[in-house]
Amino acid sequence: MNFNLTQTDHLLTTTRAVRKRLDLARPVPRELILDCVRISTQGPAGGNYQKWRWVIVDDPERKAVIADSYRRSYAPYIAAQKLAVEKAGNGAASNPIIDSSTHLAEVLADVPVLAIPCALGSPEDAGDKGGSQAGWWGSVIPSVWSYCLAARSRGLGTVWTTLHLPYEREVGDALGIPDTVTQLACIPTAYYTGDDFKPATRKPAESVTYWNGWKQTDIAS
Ligand SMILES: Cc1cc2nc3c(=O)[nH]c(=O)nc-3n(C[C@H](O)[C@H](O)[C@H](O)COP(=O)(O)O)c2cc1C
Repeated sequence: MNFNLTQTDHLLTTTRAVRKRLDLARPVPRELILDCVRISTQGPAGGNYQKWRWVIVDDPERKAVIADSYRRSYAPYIAAQKLAVEKAGNGAASNPIIDSSTHLAEVLADVPVLAIPCALGSPEDAGDKGGSQAGWWGSVIPSVWSYCLAARSRGLGTVWTTLHLPYEREVGDALGIPDTVTQLACIPTAYYTGDDFKPATRKPAESVTYWNGWKQTDIAS
C-alpha cells in the first residue's frame, strides 16, 4: 500500500500545540476519544509491555482540580518566561506564545476533555530491572503523540502540557490514580476552530543530522 504522502506529511507537520483555537463550546464524543486512544495503543513499547493507561476527564469538577493545579504552576513559570523575553528585548507584552499559553491557563477547566496519559510504575524503577530511563519513557511517550496525531486527523486539537505535574499527587487523589502510577502529561482535547494549521519553523534537518559521527553534517562525506 502506498501512503498519500501529501496528506501524511501534512498531518505530521501541522499537528500544532493548539491553545487559542480549542472550541470550548462543542462537546467531544467519548467514542471519538476512545478511537484516539485505540490508535495510540499501536505505539511501540519495550518488551511490548503496554504500561500506558489513560484517564479521560470530562467531568467539570475534576477538570477544575486539574486547572487549579495547572494555574498554580503556571504563574511562576510564566513570570520567569516574561522576564527572560524582556531581558532578551523581545517585548514580552506581545509575545504570541506567552499570550496563547496564558489563554490556555485561563480556560483549561472549560476545555471539553483533559486527557491524562499515565504509565504503570515509575522511571526510577527502570534501573532496578536492568533497564534505562530512556527505555521507560520511550515505552510510553510515542503512544501519547500518536493520540495527538489521531486527534488532529479527526478535527480535534490537542496541546501537550506538563505544568500540572508538580501537583501530580493532588490531581491523582482527585482522580483516584494510585501513587504507583506516573502521570505523563495532560492533553487538553477539543474540536479546533478554523480550517487548517501550518508547519512551524524548525531548525533545518541538515543542521541537526550528523552522518557517522557527532557534528558531521555533510551528507556527501
Ligand atoms: C514535554 C512537553 C511539555 C509541554 N508543556 C506545556 C505546557 O505545560 N503548557 C503549554 O501550554 N504547552 C506545553 N508544551 C507545548 C510546547 O510549548 C509546544 O509543543 C512548542 O511550543 C511547539 O509548538 P508547536 O508544536 O505548535 O510548534 C509542552 C510540550 C512538550 C513536548
